[in-house]
Amino acid sequence: MKDFAQLEVLLTKALESVKEFAELERVRVEFLGRKGKLAEAMKGLSALDDAERREAGKIANEVKQKMEKMFEAKKTEMENQKLAGLAEEEWIDVTLPGQVLEEGHLHLTSQAIEEITDIFSRIGFGRVLAPDIDWDWYAFESLNIPKNHPARDNWETFFIKGPEHGRMGRVVLTPHTSNSQVRELEKGKLPIRMINIGRCYRRQIDVSHNPMFHQFEGFMVDKGITIAHLKGVLDYFAKAYFGPTRKIRLRPHHFRFTEPSFEVDITCGSCDGTAKIDGEKCRLCKAGWLELGGAGMTHPNVLKAGGIDPEKYTAFAFGWGVERTLMMRAGIKIGDIRLLHKNDLRFIQQF
Ligand code: PHE
Repeated sequence: MKDFAQLEVLLTKALESVKEFAELERVRVEFLGRKGKLAEAMKGLSALDDAERREAGKIANEVKQKMEKMFEAKKTEMENQKLAGLAEEEWIDVTLPGQVLEEGHLHLTSQAIEEITDIFSRIGFGRVLAPDIDWDWYAFESLNIPKNHPARDNWETFFIKGPEHGRMGRVVLTPHTSNSQVRELEKGKLPIRMINIGRCYRRQIDVSHNPMFHQFEGFMVDKGITIAHLKGVLDYFAKAYFGPTRKIRLRPHHFRFTEPSFEVDITCGSCDGTAKIDGEKCRLCKAGWLELGGAGMTHPNVLKAGGIDPEKYTAFAFGWGVERTLMMRAGIKIGDIRLLHKNDLRFIQQF
C-alpha cells in the first residue's frame, strides 16, 4: 500500500516537469504502461493472502483511476496553454493593409481586341470568327481576285503545301480578315452586321511588319446600305476609340472587293489635325492625318459569290490592323513592331 501511495507522489512530481506532449506520453508509459511502475507494484499483490489482496486490489484500482485522471487533467491543461500561446503568437491585425498579390494582365493586343469588340457590339455588330487557315476561295477568289491576278501581290501569302481542292483551291494562312465576308454571306442570314477579329499572316518581317498580326473586319449587308452608313460607322468607331474630337476622312483607293474603295484617315491626336506643334512640323503624322486602313462598298461580284443578289442588297466592309490602331491611340511609336510579341516584360508591363 505504501508503494501505491508513493506512486501518486512520484507521478505528481513527474508531471510537474512535463512540458511537451511527447514527454507526457513517455511518463504515461512509465507509470501506466504494461511494464510500468503501477504494473510492477501490482505484481507484489500475489504474495498477499486473500483478504489482504482484496483490500490492496481495491486501493490499487483507486490509485490507477486517480493517476489516469491526473494525466487527463495535465493534458487538458497543456492543450489550453497551447491555445493561449497560439492566440498570443499568431495574432493578426485585421486593420493592416493586405498583401497585394501579383497579378498579370491581358496583352496589349488582347486588351484592344476586347475594347474593339465592345465598341462595335454597342451598335449591333456581332463578333464572328472566321478561320485563320482557310481556302484560297475565301481569302482571294470569292473576293474578286482571280488566280494570277497582280493584285494578289499586295498580300504576301503563305500557302500550305498540298493539292488544290476544286473551286476552293489551295489552303492559305489568311493574309487578311476579309475571308470572313463570303463565309458570312453563305450562312444566308440577312441583314448582316458583323465584326471578325483574327490573326493574319503575311510574308513580311522587318521593323514595321510582323509575319503574324491581327485585323478587325467590319461587314454590313442590307437593303439600301450606302457610303453614308459606312462613314457613320467609321466615325462612330473613331470617336469611341480615339476620343470625341477626332475626325475621319475617306480617300479614294483601290481594292478588288470594294467599289468604290477608300483609305480611311483620322485626324492626328498629337497636332489635332493641324500638322503643326508649336510652329514645328508634327512628326507623328502626314499633314495632320494618320492612315487607319482600308474600306469600301462591297463589289457586286463578292455578294454574288456569297449567293446574294447585288440588285437587292448592298454592303460595306472595312479591315484594319489591330496593332496599328492600338499603337496609334496610345501614341506609341516603337522602333520595332516585333517588340509586341517578344514577351519582354519590361515592355509588356507598361500597358
Ligand atoms: N482586306 C484589306 C487589307 O487587308 C482591307 C479591306 C477590308 C479593304 C475590307 C476594304 C474592305 O488590306
